[in-house]
Amino acid sequence: MRQLCLLCHPVHYVEHGRCVDCHRGNAASERKNIAHAGLREGKYANFMLGNQIELRDGQRLLDTLACRRCHVSGGRGNRLAVNLDSSVIRKSAGEIALLVRHPVANMPDFALTEAQITTLVNTLLAGSVGREMAVSGPVRVHFNTTGKSGADVFSRKCGSCHRLLSERFGASGTGAIGPNLSGLFSVYYPETFRNNLPWTGRRLSTWLKNPREIKPWSRMLPVALTAAEMKELDGILSITPGADR
Ligand code: HEC
Ligand code: HEC
Ligand code: HEC
Ligand code: HEC
Repeated sequence: MRQLCLLCHPVHYVEHGRCVDCHRGNAASERKNIAHAGLREGKYANFMLGNQIELRDGQRLLDTLACRRCHVSGGRGNRLAVNLDSSVIRKSAGEIALLVRHPVANMPDFALTEAQITTLVNTLLAGSVGREMAVSGPVRVHFNTTGKSGADVFSRKCGSCHRLLSERFGASGTGAIGPNLSGLFSVYYPETFRNNLPWTGRRLSTWLKNPREIKPWSRMLPVALTAAEMKELDGILSITPGADR
């Protein structure tokens, strides 16, 4: 089929593929509005040129900011929020960039630069390649349940300073003084316990007794929990193993 994009644009990167492989859009229309439906701007198509340095930077950003503690990207991650492989297939790159720039209520605002957002969008797009079939499941949407329930141990004892997405309750907590604890007991949460160890129920229990024993300058004060409350908290924080497959 002829690429009608060429009625208005010169060819470039032909050796890498067709216009729509990189930019999406509709190559069968000579009307600009239709041809440009879902168009991906050039800066979000960079990943198609196989620039390994940019993709490595993007993976590093994804890891440092720990996007996978809530999302699946490239087939890996917790399923506490929407699957990003599916998002980038369903939405245009410009929309994805907008949603990272202005996150919804239950996603942390990372205050990213435009360059970082562009790199992240390229990385998310690269991760979704070939996953069209794998991501056809239902999309999970979170409503803030705080105030409605609020009786669980996390909401009562932690929620004034922390926020959490959990499999059991969805979004809980309203605080922003402490870090967002979503996915704490998973490999996707940063290893911020002593000596860069990952968090476990036992380590959390040690932390709650006296955070300063783990981090001398910690701003968090001890929180006293009964054994029953600790068990309830473990349950709320638990993540189904292998949920990212
Ligand atoms: C009828 C002419 C026409 C056709 C057909 C057309 N374009 Fe465009 N395109 C334009 C014009 C004019 C612009 C300049 C910006 C604007 O007016 O939207 C543009 C802008 C673009 C941009 C830059 C967008 C931005 O926001 O920076 C891309 C990428 C692009 N076109 C790709 C395509 C692809 C891919 C196709 C085929 C699927 C296509 N165009 C078909 C006329 C066309
Ligand atoms: C291999 C991927 C790839 C293919 C194939 C490709 N482009 Fe691009 N395009 C890019 C990238 C990346 C940029 C960003 C600037 C650059 O690197 O030149 C870009 C930039 C552009 C721009 C300038 C505006 C902008 O958004 O940056 C237009 C217009 C455009 N491409 C249209 C087309 C058309 C029409 C075709 C088909 C003939 C096509 N491209 C094929 C990757 C591609
Ligand atoms: C604490 C959990 C959490 C973290 C960490 C997180 N997000 Fe989100 N994100 C969400 C929630 C919640 C939504 C809203 C959709 C939903 O309820 O699943 C969302 C939505 C999005 C969307 C919009 C998707 C769509 O289809 O509407 C994008 C894109 C996104 N996140 C990218 C990122 C990126 C990139 C990172 C890492 C820099 C990140 N998120 C980190 C929780 C998180
Ligand atoms: C009064 C506010 C407050 C309350 C209540 C609170 N925290 Fe914290 N928490 C913080 C602050 C502030 C930090 C950042 C600590 C630092 O300075 O390192 C933190 C850090 C943490 C960390 C370390 C995370 C990391 O990545 O470094 C964990 C785990 C944690 N809190 C769990 C909990 C749990 C579980 C509860 C409820 C049982 C709770 N916190 C209650 C304020 C609070």
